[in-house]
Amino acid sequence: MAGRIPQEFINDLVDRADIVEILSNRIQLKKAGREYKACCPFHNEKTPSFTVSPDKGFYHCFGCGAHGTVVGFLMEHDRLEFVEAIEELASFYGLEVPRENSRGSTAPVSPSAPLLELLSQAGELYREQLRETPAAIDYLKQRGLTGQTAADFGIGYAPPGWDFVLKKLGGTDDKRDDLLKAGLLTRNEDGRIYDRFRGRIMFPIRDSRGRVVGFGGRVTDDGEPKYLNSPETPVFHKGRELYGLYEARQIERNPERLLVVEGYMDVVALAEHGISNAVATLGTATTAEHLQRLFRVTREIVFCFDGDAAGRKAAWRALQISLPELRDGRQVKFLFLADGEDPDSVVRAGGAAEFQARLAASQPLSEYLIEHLKEATDLSSLDGQARLAELARPLISSIPEGVFRELLLDKLAGEVGLSAARLGALLTDSAGRATAPVRPAAPARPTQPTAAAATGRNPLIRRAICLVLQQPAAAKGLELKAGLRELPNPGIALLIDLLEAAQENPDIKPARLADEQAAHPDGGSHLTALLLQDLHLEPSSDWSAELAETLDAILQQELQKRFQRLARKAASGLTEAEKQEMRALQQEIATLHSNKS
Ligand code: CTP
Ligand code: MN
Repeated sequence: MAGRIPQEFINDLVDRADIVEILSNRIQLKKAGREYKACCPFHNEKTPSFTVSPDKGFYHCFGCGAHGTVVGFLMEHDRLEFVEAIEELASFYGLEVPRENSRGSTAPVSPSAPLLELLSQAGELYREQLRETPAAIDYLKQRGLTGQTAADFGIGYAPPGWDFVLKKLGGTDDKRDDLLKAGLLTRNEDGRIYDRFRGRIMFPIRDSRGRVVGFGGRVTDDGEPKYLNSPETPVFHKGRELYGLYEARQIERNPERLLVVEGYMDVVALAEHGISNAVATLGTATTAEHLQRLFRVTREIVFCFDGDAAGRKAAWRALQISLPELRDGRQVKFLFLADGEDPDSVVRAGGAAEFQARLAASQPLSEYLIEHLKEATDLSSLDGQARLAELARPLISSIPEGVFRELLLDKLAGEVGLSAARLGALLTDSAGRATAPVRPAAPARPTQPTAAAATGRNPLIRRAICLVLQQPAAAKGLELKAGLRELPNPGIALLIDLLEAAQENPDIKPARLADEQAAHPDGGSHLTALLLQDLHLEPSSDWSAELAETLDAILQQELQKRFQRLARKAASGLTEAEKQEMRALQQEIATLHSNKS
């Protein structure tokens, strides 16, 4: 296993790289003052709006909004993964890329290395178990899989019983801790530790470098739950990983298109029939990060959804997430199957030919978008036309400027019976923005939970979440008190992760922040609803101070609660430790108070 590239090396490399030198090997740059200009390689244009600033080591396109560092450019332009881009850059400057923890080196081991090692060992053990369990092999055969496909995907079997992995890999306390962290073990309320996956077919989930980062497990009977996935861990993020992407790229590094299907079995069944370009999300909605990863590898994405209500809903959400990514040259399509069908059942019943035929008839995003809007409005009335424009506005404005956006406007105009110019005016009456906002559009029908329902939690915690979400820069320079981290309340873990993400990247767009954390187990799926929550704050207010005050208030409130609980108990006597805790609490509360004034 190759170790991580030291962050310091990456930073130095990016700092010393001359962005002009690297880019001018790929596009035609013209000097303009301190900067350079070019026609943007990421969208179609005749007058250059792509700007490179050598001082800032940064490029930005005023037309389509593409921007980033030299590494981002290499990833987008040459369609490289991050590590590949670093390697490309290093080799340009004749540098060897160092790796942490390579043999013979005493460099610090990354904290995730032991987890990855255990996950890989577990994968190995599960595969071994599969070979020794005829019933599990029969199950896979009965689902139409050959041994070759099972091997390609590293499919295995977790035996029933509570301590298979625990016994095999949990020899020491440290190992047990790491197995818990890796999500392979779990702990019940009584503190008992046991195997998370028992009696299940195991699908290893590999990251872009082929390392096992998590598992999905399916029962072989009609037990519940049918699928069980690894939880979020330091090495596994559902909002980022895609099942089957690594395997697909082993067959073809840059496939013409990638299919996004719903299930593990769909991916492997398609591969079994020679359709090896399918990937699946891991029981969660598609995120912007998923799409960005896919578009680094291919130009066309086809979403395959069930034709049922849930599938339709998931498709509309996928459309909304896709719009900001639709730079020219990229395509998104939708394939709707009949209610009760999935790619697995289609390909098994009709073979690859049947599935390909369906694929050929998939619906371009623009068509689906228009169809969906027409269903929601009555175009025979003027009101209906206005309403359609109303619904379309946020959708269209989240698409980067370019040919695709123009074409969509044209098509939509045709549908409503307006000229494109008139519709354009209707759509942009909120004034000419230079670049399109990347915020995902509001849904055509209000299907999202209301903000309050989204977080039936402490209103202060909710407010803090909204504050950092809507203005990430407000978290800049904020000191996160240890006491806050330790609070057990629902929402705190999410809040802390949001604060840290925002501090790491204060310029992050709210929509992207919400997206990144959408799979957060502590209520991440509700963040989109909170993006639009009205906080009754002016954009010009001091959000940072507001956030700091809210965080203090949360801590204050919880400390008070704890203090009062102890005070009530004091009547019947306190232990020495409790007395000490009361004094400490008093002190902390007083400090918080004095900070305020
Ligand atoms: N899923 C999950 N947890 C569940 C059910 C489903 O994470 N309890 C995810 C899994 O990633 C699964 C996908 O959703 O692969 C599709 O689930 P489902 O539609 O239930 O899959 P089926 O096609 O019914 O599964 P199978 O073909 O294996 O019966
Ligand atoms: Mn299925």
